Amino acid sequence: MSTQDGTGGAANAGDKVHIFDTTLRDGEQSAGIGFTINEKLAIARQLQRLGVDIIEAGFPASSPGDLEAVSLIAKEVRGPIICGLARANAGDIDAVWEAVGHAETPRIHVFISSSAIHMAQQLHKNKEDVLQLARASVARAAGYCPEVEFSPMDATRSDRQFVYELVEAAIDEGATTINIPDTVGYAIPEEFEALIRSLPEHVPDIHKARISVHCQNDLGMATANSLAGILGGARQVEGTINGIGERAGNASLEEVIMAIRTRPDFMNVHVDANPGEIYSISRLVERASGMMVQPHKAIVGKNAFRHSSGIHQDGVLKMRETYEIMDPLEIGIPGGSAIVLTKTSGRHGLQSRLSALGIEPSEDEFQRVWDAFLGVADAKDEVDDRDLMAIVSEQTQIKIEDAWTLDLVQVSSSDHGTPTATIRLIGPDGASHEDAAIGTGPVDAIYRAISRVTGTQHDLTEFSVKSVTEGIDAQGEVTIRVEADGVAYQGRAADTDILVASARAYLHALNRSIAAIQRAEAVATV
Ligand code: KIV
Repeated sequence: MSTQDGTGGAANAGDKVHIFDTTLRDGEQSAGIGFTINEKLAIARQLQRLGVDIIEAGFPASSPGDLEAVSLIAKEVRGPIICGLARANAGDIDAVWEAVGHAETPRIHVFISSSAIHMAQQLHKNKEDVLQLARASVARAAGYCPEVEFSPMDATRSDRQFVYELVEAAIDEGATTINIPDTVGYAIPEEFEALIRSLPEHVPDIHKARISVHCQNDLGMATANSLAGILGGARQVEGTINGIGERAGNASLEEVIMAIRTRPDFMNVHVDANPGEIYSISRLVERASGMMVQPHKAIVGKNAFRHSSGIHQDGVLKMRETYEIMDPLEIGIPGGSAIVLTKTSGRHGLQSRLSALGIEPSEDEFQRVWDAFLGVADAKDEVDDRDLMAIVSEQTQIKIEDAWTLDLVQVSSSDHGTPTATIRLIGPDGASHEDAAIGTGPVDAIYRAISRVTGTQHDLTEFSVKSVTEGIDAQGEVTIRVEADGVAYQGRAADTDILVASARAYLHALNRSIAAIQRAEAVATV
């Protein structure tokens, strides 16, 4: 196992760390999120494909809807343990059992606050009351199923001796997982590691349970604290996809999984999760939650594997590992790493992007393209392929024109009828071509009509709309990604009418795919 070369060593090192996903419970506690029951089931199914060990599917006593969703997931999703959260009272525990009792392997997760501030201000109870409630609740849960998890909430701000006492009592009553939550994201990694490490010394029966950690991100240390917890002896980590959750969120599971996979030499543990599903579940949670992943978010952010500066681009083009510690393809990111052309990019990056587009300028032409590129890059954040095509057309003899342009898009749509779109395009022959199609929605109808007119077939893999200005007359920017023969093409367009923007974005991607194929054919025949 080598650490010097940055490869991190074997991926199956040491003990297994169990991955406990709480996207549907703590994640749903994010301000502004409310998943529908279908979204919850879709997320749970994708978590099962990701290979998490436990899905905390909800908090059944919190609402009849949550109880229904947890029951549905318990019935439908096989493989992972299905868990529900309960406060330390009989009603909550019974509600969890009503929901998770259908699961292949059910778990009841009981929590009660252990810090002085929570006990005094929220519970109005003293230590003795809390201890009795913890005992009675864990015993009740253990009467239903063997998998019982206990959490002393706000453990990191609690009296240590009291946490030890509570945890020992919970194990005595049948808890098989002991979760130590850093409920308000207060811990510092070294301190948290020491707390977890101290458990065997102070809790004689701790070996009868698996230690878990649950870290919130208030100081931006949720992932660091989770990893510190593992170093201290925890063998279950709780977290959410994209790090969503209460306030500043929870430990981001994709970060925890990839940190363990990337640094087994240091962590000396392994996870069973399948990293190839990370990107798709991140996108699913992003869409369902409406919480956009920040571009520089580790692992799943748009920029996580995009290289902009000349030095980095040069390195990555020579050998990916010079600036990448993980392989984006392993995480399921379509297309893998990307070279992004900005004003800090170098000639090597530009040359490589031109080659990928099938453009091979002469030396003189390249110099002109480079000078013009620098001018555009100074004025724009990112020089995309369309800008590059315009530069190439202006500066070289290489002619690039859009094969198809939009002349008319007309849509009829209502809350009952079938959406229908009529499309008129000006084709490569200069003539007008028109056709119509129906679809499952207006955008689908437009894309089907365009496919009919152009005689092309592309799979739409991504579609997003965002407002680029404010107000009722805002411009909507549509970004799409289509695939043809395993190659992805992006299209983007803005208009005050998002259906017009959708049609233009599709044509943008389609014209790029046609141009790329034509250029590849031209290169092949030289
Ligand atoms: O943050 C927390 O303490 C929790 C517990 C219920 C585990 O979410």
